[in-house]
Amino acid sequence: MSTLMVPSFTEATERHLLGAAEGGSRNTTTFADNMKLPVHRWFRYSAGYSAEWAGSLMRHWGVERVLDPFSGSGTTCLAAQEQKVESTGTEVHPMVARIARTKLLWTEDPDELRDRVGDVLRVAALGRAVEVPTAPLIAKCFPDTEALHDLLRIRDAVLEQEGRDNIAELLWLAFVSIIRACSPAGTAQWQYVLPNRTKSRVAEPRSAFEAAGELFASDMEMRRFLVGDEPARTTVLHTDARTLRDVADEWADAVITSPPYANNYDYADTLRLEQILLGEIEGWKDLRPLREVLLRSATQNMGRWKAEEALDSPLLSPIIDELRPVYDELAEVRKGRAGNKAYNVMLAGYFYDNAQVFRALRQKTKPGAKVCYVVGDSAPYGVHAPVEKWLGKLAVDSGFASWSFSKVRDRNTKWKNRKHSHPLHEGYLWIEG
Ligand SMILES: C[S@@+](CC[C@H](N)C(=O)[O-])C[C@H]1O[C@@H](n2cnc3c(N)ncnc32)[C@H](O)[C@@H]1O
Repeated sequence: MSTLMVPSFTEATERHLLGAAEGGSRNTTTFADNMKLPVHRWFRYSAGYSAEWAGSLMRHWGVERVLDPFSGSGTTCLAAQEQKVESTGTEVHPMVARIARTKLLWTEDPDELRDRVGDVLRVAALGRAVEVPTAPLIAKCFPDTEALHDLLRIRDAVLEQEGRDNIAELLWLAFVSIIRACSPAGTAQWQYVLPNRTKSRVAEPRSAFEAAGELFASDMEMRRFLVGDEPARTTVLHTDARTLRDVADEWADAVITSPPYANNYDYADTLRLEQILLGEIEGWKDLRPLREVLLRSATQNMGRWKAEEALDSPLLSPIIDELRPVYDELAEVRKGRAGNKAYNVMLAGYFYDNAQVFRALRQKTKPGAKVCYVVGDSAPYGVHAPVEKWLGKLAVDSGFASWSFSKVRDRNTKWKNRKHSHPLHEGYLWIEG
């Protein structure tokens, strides 16, 4: 009989899945691996996590209905279809929600899409006059006027079809997906544009659109082969996670999600270039309505909101004794910093909003539900906030039975880049009951 202490395949897989594997399972918390997967890869949403990981977790749990309150580009919903699990996602950024919904249209006819890509290119080739957005960002990102005009002619031909049917939505996403590739401007690790940096390979608009159309069509065929003709039901609602409006009570037996992190990443700015190019907004100032509905995870989204509302609220009572000193310290540190950022107010808002999300989740999940939050901690101005612990306490206060955390990896974060050395991590917050 063997006495080797080698974990079985199942144990090793499980340890990886649950974040306990040696060395950390880095790619599960990032979108990178999804760029190899049909349909998932239609739009690179850097805030996303691994679809394969989410699907494995559903399989491991053996659940039937999964809810993702921060569904982003729709990773959880697509992964749920792959596991024959029903799903609902909610996303408050209208364009991000539209991207996710459009990915769910992969069941449409791929040949019809190919034909319509051809129609778009024929109309674009007529060389009609275009209206160029006046925002300085467009001139900076598209210095080659001829290429810009080509891109805008494709835009106009795509928008001419808008509202017609589901294929028109797929054309819209194919166009959205090529915008950055057609600009020589660099992009940061996240979605931000860096107009002063250039990238080495710039796509030509017509061939990029044609290639995107073909990628979409062949992915639709491949996914049909993998998932079948009648995928599990899934919906992405354009709804605030703090209310989960339109989700039925006790609907889900599991939640798999990743909220915005309390790290000042500006989700309102994520798709500014695309929104301007499409004519949805003129510039920065038009993002204000979006800032009012996004979770308070960035100082830019605080508006005139006053932290007192949160600090005095019973919603924060389980953590207020720990949060208050951090809040006060940040208020003090802020005075000596050039940026003078109100991270104290942001953190109060962040936990207040998340407390509301847990209340809503408690209402929409069955008793005994399983919840996994992919989340990282935070240290604005070097002052540490133990995010997972505080979120866990807020979840229990909302009626869940227990929480625990498994670290997946250490993080080299924006904060670290900004010269504070507080070690940070990212992992799975497990909530049950
Ligand atoms: C970390 S990302 C989730 C990414 C997703 N897991 C994926 O794979 O694409 C967090 C998402 O929460 C969204 N969000 C922010 N505030 C929200 C709110 N109040 N309600 C719903 N979604 C919100 C952001 O727009 C963002 O897309």
